[in-house]
Amino acid sequence: MPAPHAILFVCLGNICRSPLAEGAFRAAASKAGIEAAADSAGTAAYHVGKPPDARAIRIARQHGIEIGGYRARHIEAADFARFTQIWAMDEANLADIEALRPAGSDTPVGLFLDVLGEGQGRSVADPYYGDEAGFARTWEEVNAAAHALVARLQHTAS
Ligand code: 4NP
Repeated sequence: MPAPHAILFVCLGNICRSPLAEGAFRAAASKAGIEAAADSAGTAAYHVGKPPDARAIRIARQHGIEIGGYRARHIEAADFARFTQIWAMDEANLADIEALRPAGSDTPVGLFLDVLGEGQGRSVADPYYGDEAGFARTWEEVNAAAHALVARLQHTAS
């Protein structure tokens, strides 16, 4: 039987925010004993096939999580059928994902930090052009939301 939950995390390049969200979610789900498939993708294709940014790999390792084996890919319309939930890191990602939605698909797509239930509409800031401190902040945000998502999934069937 396929996992009841299949979660896709999406950002622009799929090398900074969404791989960190995927790694944080996988770790939190595994610790909680939740059966869930997870993946990440980008709305842009610039980095397809590349590993996460070295700064993202580093901050994940500092928290005991290995994301160095992930490879960037481009989101595609078929993802709406493969995943039960799609989470965007920012408003631009959200709009780009919605533009790909196939007719008739009702797969929920939301802003990831809305899972935290505070300040609806907040985005995970893009750390790509910043420094290591930006990546630490990204980690804190996506890790908090990943734990909140796992808690939510523990109470829902899909
Ligand atoms: P991400 O960060 O969307 O969190 O993976 C970015 C990665 C690459 C670029 C922008 C954002 N870029 O312009 O190449």
